[in-house]
Amino acid sequence: MLLSNRFVCIILALGFAATPVPLIGQTARADADPEALIDALNAVFGKHDRKRAAHTNGICVKGAFTPSERAGDYSKAPHLTGKGPFPLIGRFSMGGGVPDAPHTQKDNVRGLAMHIDIGKGNVTDMVLISAPVFAAKTPEQFLSLLQTVASKDAEKIGAFFKANPESTRQAAWLMARPVPASYATATYFGVHTFTLTNGDGQKKFVKWHVVPKGGDVGLSDEDVKSKAADFYKPELTDRLAKGPAVFDLIAVIGNDGDEQNDPTVEWTGTERKSVVLGEISIAALEDNATCDAGMFDPTNVVDGIEGPANDPIFAIRSSAYAVSLSRRGQP
Ligand code: HEM
Repeated sequence: MLLSNRFVCIILALGFAATPVPLIGQTARADADPEALIDALNAVFGKHDRKRAAHTNGICVKGAFTPSERAGDYSKAPHLTGKGPFPLIGRFSMGGGVPDAPHTQKDNVRGLAMHIDIGKGNVTDMVLISAPVFAAKTPEQFLSLLQTVASKDAEKIGAFFKANPESTRQAAWLMARPVPASYATATYFGVHTFTLTNGDGQKKFVKWHVVPKGGDVGLSDEDVKSKAADFYKPELTDRLAKGPAVFDLIAVIGNDGDEQNDPTVEWTGTERKSVVLGEISIAALEDNATCDAGMFDPTNVVDGIEGPANDPIFAIRSSAYAVSLSRRGQP
């Protein structure tokens, strides 16, 4: 989910589709519990019947994951030690809670979520975005960011970003790069730190990168102007008619001292080892109802993969998504 400085400016300047609505009938709550976070997302982006509170605009797809030969050296997870291919259901999305979020927006993340079928009726999930960092390091900070934006008070919003510089990093990262030409030509990042354990009990802490085989491809600012606001679906339809969109699943291995619990911090500066643990192949579009029937849960990992123990954003995501799921199930 993204909420950027510039996006805030757009909201304020243009009354963009995501016009913040005041917290009518509800007091801004200080406790950053899952309900309060969903209320605050709705306050910024509007409440849209039967839609996700965030990453509302998206396309459901299907494909398969095939592990690399060396994947089992790093993790004993079934889909990393097995042969594959393992079928998957995925969803590409735009950040934010606007149903018709424009695909031409530079300062917005693209999302990639997956359920990977590991057999015997079980799935494991991955939920990634097209930036290496999130806009808040705690649920309290995220709630405060959302509530400040919903206030529409330019002075307060400016003060928030001044006092919370880590909340500006995601937008700065996105603004320094072009709009992805396709959902299939962006790199997606797991953002949080995961620990892999292999069959011998050896552990490594890693960050996930899902990298398009053909490399990242972006549009020039000039080319973006000629694109329709919803160009990703026809683009993906044409692309997949010619063959699958293929990505490498890469584990970037952390060094001692790398930050493991703050998703606003990017690992930079020092050389790190990366290993390709498998290939994600997106073959075709899938009925959106398949993706909307449940939620993609970042904490749904399997033995051999663990989420961060002390990252408060990671800890709250699953329950926040469950609130969004239960509310979108209601008319
Ligand atoms: C406290 C922090 C966060 C909150 C409150 C939040 C909230 C949400 C909500 C409510 C949804 C919709 C869930 C549903 O209805 O199924 C969602 C989806 C999503 N979020 Fe977050 N999010 C947070 C952090 C993150 C982070 C750190 C990432 C980065 C990887 C992320 C990436 C995504 C993606 C890719 C989706 C789309 C999933 C799909 O396609 O169904 N979110 N988020």
